[in-house]
Amino acid sequence: MTENGIDRGSLLAMMTAFKSTYLLRAALELRVFDALAKGPADPDDVAAMLRTNPRATRGLLRGLASAGLIEADGEQFQLSGGAKELLVTTSPQYCGGIVRVAASDWEWDAMRDLADVVRHGGTRLETNAETPDFPYWVDFATHLTFATKPGAEFVADLVGPWAEGRETLDVLDVGAGHGLFGFALAARDERATVSTQDWPDVLEVAKGHAKRLGVDDRVDYLPGDAFEVELQREYDVIILGNFLFQFAASRCIDLTRKLVSALKPGGKVVIVGFMPVDGPPAADYHAHMLNLLMLAWTERGELHSPVMYRKILSSAGLANIEVREKPGLPLRVVSGELA
Ligand SMILES: C[S@@+](CC[C@H](N)C(=O)[O-])C[C@H]1O[C@@H](n2cnc3c(N)ncnc32)[C@H](O)[C@@H]1O
Repeated sequence: MTENGIDRGSLLAMMTAFKSTYLLRAALELRVFDALAKGPADPDDVAAMLRTNPRATRGLLRGLASAGLIEADGEQFQLSGGAKELLVTTSPQYCGGIVRVAASDWEWDAMRDLADVVRHGGTRLETNAETPDFPYWVDFATHLTFATKPGAEFVADLVGPWAEGRETLDVLDVGAGHGLFGFALAARDERATVSTQDWPDVLEVAKGHAKRLGVDDRVDYLPGDAFEVELQREYDVIILGNFLFQFAASRCIDLTRKLVSALKPGGKVVIVGFMPVDGPPAADYHAHMLNLLMLAWTERGELHSPVMYRKILSSAGLANIEVREKPGLPLRVVSGELA
């Protein structure tokens, strides 16, 4: 967009954005960046390394250079700044996993029929975000988003000092996915135990993360539907991370009430996730795009605002409600406590 509205250039960029998405996907799938990590190469060399068609490889490399993902010097191609860290598979910061999720066929299929979704007011897909063991959630739990680790650390920063004053730190993480929100608390506080709740296939992934982070001996698992699962313990902290936006506010209130019945006196419910705030939508682009995905992918889900989460927590009987955010982090945290 331009400052004063749209022009043909900005419209063209939107019309063609999907081509760069598929360009990135193809280059990662073929491991073009791994091939160029060995040094500058021409299309024939790259085609030989990748066992691809030389003519099509030249087109791919030129496309990647036109998008700034690699650099061209005549017929020699090399990695751009940042590509070594982000796009080469051996790098600890490799982003190919996130691309698998954010640029997945699952998301594409959901967004493809957006007009129809808007006509009807909810998902048109038989298999969608609310389907038990939806394979997308297994990928999501495996590959973590850019916001996952900083978000988990932020929650631990907020809960940690409060938890020092408590005798126990029993944590329930609902719709936990990878489980990192609970595991970050367990990693910081040896007293902490975590019940990690999600669909069974997703919990298999969470188990791997718990082991990797060295907290698995203090984690138990609650497989199944969060709305149905039986809670047999009481908790100091209950976390709902990027979960409630899959449901209408009325269902969020029902679930929060159920969870509050398993909260110890003085316990805390922590909602963390993308939340659009009042103000110009242009200031919250990613939240509004995620909102469209939730519209397209659930019966009644949408991104709730911090104001709505305040209402949800107070309807469930919680007080001391606080909204917290951290500069540079796209997630917000809304928490409330039981008297
Ligand atoms: C967006 S992910 C959030 C994962 C993690 N809490 C985070 O904040 O990154 C949503 C999670 O909710 C889980 N989920 C969806 N519907 C569920 C339900 N009815 N019961 C339990 N888990 C559910 C999905 O499997 C997925 O792991």
